[in-house]
Amino acid sequence: MEQIKWAANRMPKSDDKQLGIMSLENIAKARKFHDSFPQYAVTPLAELKNMAEHLGLGDLFVKDESYRFGLNAFKVLGGSFAMARYIAQQLGRDVSEMTYDYLTSDKLRQEFGQATFFTATDGNHGRGVAWAANKLGQKSVVHMPKGSTQTRFDNIAKEGAKVTIEEVNYDDCVRMAAAEAAQTPRGVVVQDTAWEGYEEIPAWIMQGYGTMASEAAEQLKAAGVDRPTHIFVQAGVGSLAGAMQGYFANLFPDCCPTTIIMEAQAADCLYRGAVAADGNLRIVDGDLQTIMAGLACGEPNTISWDILKNHSSFFVSCPDWVAAKGMRMLGAPCKGDPQVVSGESGAVGMGLIATLMENDLYKELREAIGLHKNSKVLMFSTEGDTDPENYRRIVWEGGYATTK
Ligand SMILES: Cc1ncc(COP(=O)(O)O)c(C=O)c1O
Repeated sequence: MEQIKWAANRMPKSDDKQLGIMSLENIAKARKFHDSFPQYAVTPLAELKNMAEHLGLGDLFVKDESYRFGLNAFKVLGGSFAMARYIAQQLGRDVSEMTYDYLTSDKLRQEFGQATFFTATDGNHGRGVAWAANKLGQKSVVHMPKGSTQTRFDNIAKEGAKVTIEEVNYDDCVRMAAAEAAQTPRGVVVQDTAWEGYEEIPAWIMQGYGTMASEAAEQLKAAGVDRPTHIFVQAGVGSLAGAMQGYFANLFPDCCPTTIIMEAQAADCLYRGAVAADGNLRIVDGDLQTIMAGLACGEPNTISWDILKNHSSFFVSCPDWVAAKGMRMLGAPCKGDPQVVSGESGAVGMGLIATLMENDLYKELREAIGLHKNSKVLMFSTEGDTDPENYRRIVWEGGYATTK
């Protein structure tokens, strides 16, 4: 079985100029925007008390994004808020005026008309963009990488988007979407990653993800936990991780929880940057084959990378069996705990936390992270069974078993 690899963060710090993106004030605006949607509801924070006890932890909280807007993943939070901020900017208004009612009104149609939002996706982000464009009367074009599944394609197509599956990987689909947008009148790229010269919209997307962090912080408080000791967050390009890390670093400026960034081993670009430890990002290319489709991205978000290298504690590269184990554990937790239906990219945190606590092969990492019976751990199950066939193959049929 392939092993989990890890690196403690020993990278040189920068002047932290990206952290302000995730200021509490910016995130309050994102939350207010999402709150204006009739589909909005705070997603559950599942408290797995018995699982925590079983593993030797103080408590374990899992933010369950399978309930987000009926879309089975958190991603829509980002694309929708970025569209609202883009429209606000074009109209010279503040995003606080961009409520759902206003954005879907005839008035907006007259003032703004229609733009075409282009994006590349493994599935969840594109579905979020297509859904938001559909709801807000805008147009969308979505490109998916080689190997994307039919279910994910269909979920995007049914929102009225023009969608294709290409013969190239995710990062090349991003370049394709950007090139097409540049040639389309009123074409706008809404990409969930940043690169040099393309940073404004991804920053807005990260702020949109902030709604999930702010809900979780509030829910933890209500459960009697003022501050989690550890946060586990998974990364593809790292926008989500940078957003969560950024929010909690702003919320707890003097004592940020220990944050562990997890990636699929086939696309562990952030981990490789942490291993190199010179502060520069690293790129992984090729087919990036992993069951964690949402994490199959080899080129880091440049603004997130800055937040992560300044604040995150550990970078962990996880083989597929870690995610599969997490899916099974969350699907069939200890008696009395709530079940969380968690897909491949959602469950890697559960698989890693359990492996660290149970397997002495990883004792050094467990101790370095400082996980023990007083730890109060937060993780994000960022998707439900977005690929239902594969979900059952793993959870019901025992795919990617840890015993082989
Ligand atoms: C379910 C899920 N979890 C996590 C991620 C990782 O987010 P990011 O690419 O911002 O690192 C994705 C990205 O698509 C995703 O779909």
